[in-house]
Amino acid sequence: MTDVSGLSIGILGGTGDQGKGLARRFALAGLRVAIGSRSEERAREAAESIGAGATGAANAAVAAGADIVIVAVPYDGHKALLESLAAELAGKIVVDCVNPLGFDKQGAYALPVAEGSAAQQAAAVLPDSRVVAAFHHVSAVVLMDPAVDEVDLDVLVLGDDREATDTVQALAGLIPGVRGVYGGRLRNAFQVEALTANLISVNRRYKAHAGVRVTDI
Ligand SMILES: NC(=O)c1ccc[n+]([C@@H]2O[C@H](COP(=O)([O-])OP(=O)(O)OC[C@H]3O[C@@H](n4cnc5c(N)ncnc54)[C@H](OP(=O)(O)O)[C@@H]3O)[C@@H](O)[C@H]2O)c1
Repeated sequence: MTDVSGLSIGILGGTGDQGKGLARRFALAGLRVAIGSRSEERAREAAESIGAGATGAANAAVAAGADIVIVAVPYDGHKALLESLAAELAGKIVVDCVNPLGFDKQGAYALPVAEGSAAQQAAAVLPDSRVVAAFHHVSAVVLMDPAVDEVDLDVLVLGDDREATDTVQALAGLIPGVRGVYGGRLRNAFQVEALTANLISVNRRYKAHAGVRVTDI
């Protein structure tokens, strides 16, 4: 297993539920975590609310300073934000957890993405970064819940750079209960992002925070 204990993690849009949830778990695991935001003040407030040594700064500073950068912004702002940070993110592992979803009275559904998926869109606008898709199905509510010691799911990790996917699998494994499982090349990220719509339906029907487990591995 790749050793990720010395790496620093930056989270773009880390002021939101998903970013804060991941930040909390990685900070608790002992990693240096920086929360990014369009507003330095919001970033600092979010970092203080997490504690465990987390810091906050503007997205660009976080992108430039971290070893691994997680993208946790809504799909609407995804492409423009990454285009604006291409220089800061060059050479880095960029972990995309964005689910392009729409919602109507029937519930959640997957949106079409011209590049194929949000992760492929990230790879298209960040040609010098090592884009990995992961953390699509983990619930922010569960990540933030202090009563949940072990998070019961596998994180599917997709990408075209095996060393980068190995690193992100190890990162996922720092969250107690979680296993990072290689889930294929980036061209298969659409199904993983879209499956979130099904999980949201499961959650509504069963009043749960459902995750996925892969058997026989
Ligand atoms: N929530 C979950 O359980 C969950 C689970 C798995 C995956 N995800 C994915 O993770 C991503 C974030 O989810 P979330 O629930 O945390 O979303 P969110 O709270 O709506 O947004 C996260 C942060 O993104 C920033 N942001 C909002 N609009 C932006 C824009 N146009 N450009 C740049 N930054 C913008 C905001 O930070 P500032 O205003 O501080 O810049 C906001 O706090 C989504 O793509 C979602 O599909 C979420």
